[in-house]
Formats: sequence, structure tokens, C-alpha cells
Amino acid sequence: MIRNKSIISIDDLSKSDIFEVFNVADDMLGKIEKEGSTGLLNSKIMATLFYEPSTRTRLSFESAMHRLGGSVISVSDVKTSSVAKGETLADTIRMASSYSDIIVIRHPLEGAARLASRFASKPVINAGDGSGQHPTQTVLDLYTIRKELGKIDGNTITMVGDLRYGRTIHSLIMALSSFDVKINLVSPPILRLPEYVYSMVPDRSNIREVDSLSDVIGDTDVLYVTRIQKERFSDQNEYQSVIGSYSITSEMVAAMKEKSIIMHPLPRIDEISPEIDRKPQARYFKQAYYGVPVRMALIYMILGD
Ligand code: NCD
Repeated sequence: MIRNKSIISIDDLSKSDIFEVFNVADDMLGKIEKEGSTGLLNSKIMATLFYEPSTRTRLSFESAMHRLGGSVISVSDVKTSSVAKGETLADTIRMASSYSDIIVIRHPLEGAARLASRFASKPVINAGDGSGQHPTQTVLDLYTIRKELGKIDGNTITMVGDLRYGRTIHSLIMALSSFDVKINLVSPPILRLPEYVYSMVPDRSNIREVDSLSDVIGDTDVLYVTRIQKERFSDQNEYQSVIGSYSITSEMVAAMKEKSIIMHPLPRIDEISPEIDRKPQARYFKQAYYGVPVRMALIYMILGD
């Protein structure tokens, strides 16, 4: 049901859309592993406009489009585009829509993707707008939970880190509100989940803020760790005061259930030390791997017949 639609917020996807994405992504995963690529979107063009750094999101969107048989045009460094001459976002988007069939945009300002969708004559996908939303990351996060734990319902999800500025957290909390899960939030006081995100969740009774990760680690099924979003702090002293304030150690992982998983949207800085990568709970690289089939599914559902 998302044919020709933009995806700006996670609310643009219903629960049944999300389950449909899962099914299509399972198919895409099979195709990637068997044939590598498909001709499903031959002759379609995706424009990627990244006004902020990105590795996984951009590469996985581009890889997804290539694997669907389509092609990609891209502005990766806005300093070399007409944005540096002062072109408005509206005009850049008008142009990108006349050259392509779908636009993927990442921008440092919250609301920029929504604005872009108003000027675009083609579907727009928000690949992260400031500390707003990152809906496609959320779909791949949910896909990872379902794939690795069998289902989403019934799990206890503990989110750690920068809950204030982390857009992956904001979208994920909103999406999880339609599942039967318990959510624990652990963060330094100044990085608590903003009130406006709470206000978008219909029932906040299954979300609780806890002071210490050690109080909940033993009951956690999904430990979702995030990076402190240094680039969002207007006061660098405030950033300095929270730097290194949490880090997942081997001792903490030892207290986790055998079947639990550790996720992270990446990039990680010092929140998870590399020695954790070998632990059976570590799933963040697998999570990143699922970015391609999930984005293939989304693009195909938007642009396919
Ligand atoms: C995240 C983002 O850009 O919001 N990264 C990603 O897309 N995988 C998380 C982050 O940058 O910390």
C-alpha cells in the first residue's frame, strides 16, 4: 500500500505495510544470496542527496537500487553542488525529481525531508532529518529483531545512550508502540527521551526510564545501543560532560540472556568495544547487512508494478 508514496516518518507505514516489507525483504534476501541482482526496476533512477555524513545508509540504498536493476545519481558532497552557490532545497528537489523516479534525502535539519516531499513530484524517502526521524532504519531494526528472535511481540527492549538526539530511537519507539513489547530507557539525564516523542506514543505505560543498565540487563532481549550525537549539541561543554558516560563491557554481556541480542545502528565510537563483536549476542553487523534487502523491499514496493 505504499506504491508511489513518500516515507518521511515511520507513521507513513502502517503495521501491515511493515509486515509486507518483511515478506518482500525475505524474498529479496533470497535473491541477493542466489543471484546477486534482479531486473525488477530496470530503467528506474534513484537520486540520493546526502547533506550529512553517511556510510551505511547511503551505500545500502545505492546497493539496493543497483541490486534491483535500477541506477543511481547522487550528490554526496553538497559543497560541490549548486547548494554551495546558494540554491534552495526546494529548487534542488525540483531538479532531482525531474531527473529521477525516487529521491532519498538526508539533511541536518529536522523537517527537511517533509519540506522536500512538498516540492518533489516523485516519492521522497527520509534517510534521516536532524534529530527527527530515520524511518527506514527502523524498518530494518524491526526486521532484525524478527529475524534474529523470531518475533517482535513479547520482547523487552532496552535502549541505551543518546535518546534525546538519536533519530533512530525516535522512529523505533514510535513504531514499537504498536507492538506488545516492554521498553527500558537508559541515558544520562541530559540525554533523556524528549517529551514530544512520548507525546507521539499512544500508551506510554510500557516505557520506563531506568537509572542503571545493570538493573535491567538480565531481563533484556534486545539491547539497542546508540552513539552520542556529537554533531547535534549546540554547547560542546554539554557534550564533554556526557562523553564516554556509558560503554557496554564484556561483564555486562555476561549478565545478558543467552538468546538476547545487541543492536546498534552504527557508527559506533566507544559505546561497544570491539571485543564484544565476537560474543554470540552481537548482531549490529548483521543488522547493517539487512539494510540492503529491507531497502530493496521498500524501493520496490514504492516503484514496482
Ligand atoms: C544513524 C543515523 O544516521 O541516525 N546511523 C545510521 O543511519 N545507521 C545513527 C548515528 O549516526 O549514530
